[in-house]
Amino acid sequence: MNEQSYEDFMSTVSHELRTPLTSIRGFSQTMLTSWNKLDDESKKKFLKIIEEQSNRLISLVENMLSVTKLQSANENFVYKETDILPIINTVVSIVKNQYTSRVFEVNVSKNTPTILVDRDKFQQVMMNLIENAAKYSFDNTKISVVGSSSDNYEYVSIKVSNVGVKLAEEDYDKIFTKFSRIDNPLTRKVQGSGLGLYITKNIVDKMKGSISVVSSEIDDKSAVTTFEVKFPVCNVETQAREKCKQ
Ligand SMILES: Nc1ncnc2c1ncn2[C@@H]1O[C@H](COP(=O)(O)OP(=O)(O)OP(=O)(O)O)[C@@H](O)[C@H]1O
Ligand SMILES: [Mg+2]
Repeated sequence: MNEQSYEDFMSTVSHELRTPLTSIRGFSQTMLTSWNKLDDESKKKFLKIIEEQSNRLISLVENMLSVTKLQSANENFVYKETDILPIINTVVSIVKNQYTSRVFEVNVSKNTPTILVDRDKFQQVMMNLIENAAKYSFDNTKISVVGSSSDNYEYVSIKVSNVGVKLAEEDYDKIFTKFSRIDNPLTRKVQGSGLGLYITKNIVDKMKGSISVVSSEIDDKSAVTTFEVKFPVCNVETQAREKCKQ
């Protein structure tokens, strides 16, 4: 990182950290000084805010650590032949627990080959995409995860789709950059640091894959947004594999 972008990064980070900290301090001070005047309902509401803001801080710090690690040259990726379905199922069951008003559908073709990836990093990619799909969708809509391979087994594709607010085409590139969030009623309702997709793209690129997004309108209020990640099946390291010999 050059000096200017380091300074920009630090000032955004400080701002992002200060907002939840200020609110945690404010609500705890209010509770301490006015304990006897507050009814149970308000106390519960304030504690809920403190809990939410603490969660926001934790995810922000975790994301920042991921960014720092990705920028250091010697971060280790441990590549293993990986079956995508069990990892997708694990991630879906975690996200499902948090977003109970969404319906999840997983469909991975039987003949989908294994891919050579770092399993923790692959799980992080799936987590960011499926969590976003749940986060930026309307209540009682369906989130689908579809895994398949190209006809010639060149790559494995995973598509994560959801129904929400349309993502404008001019924002397709922007959302993969640091701290970028698109302003709309859905994003205003949920918290986020705007680092998830930046981290995701970085990891996917390092594992020789690619990521893209398309958002197509259903009507004037909603759209289907699909993120697709592709990982090569027969890359240099896997040339000896049976299915790569043909
Ligand atoms: N499935 C989606 N549908 C519509 N917009 C999306 C979707 N996923 C991401 N976005 C947009 O892209 C922005 C960046 O996403 P990203 O995951 O990088 O950050 P975030 O979710 O805001 O925060 P976090 O760092 O906690 O993930 C989001 O704020 C949202 O505006
Ligand atoms: Mg996100």
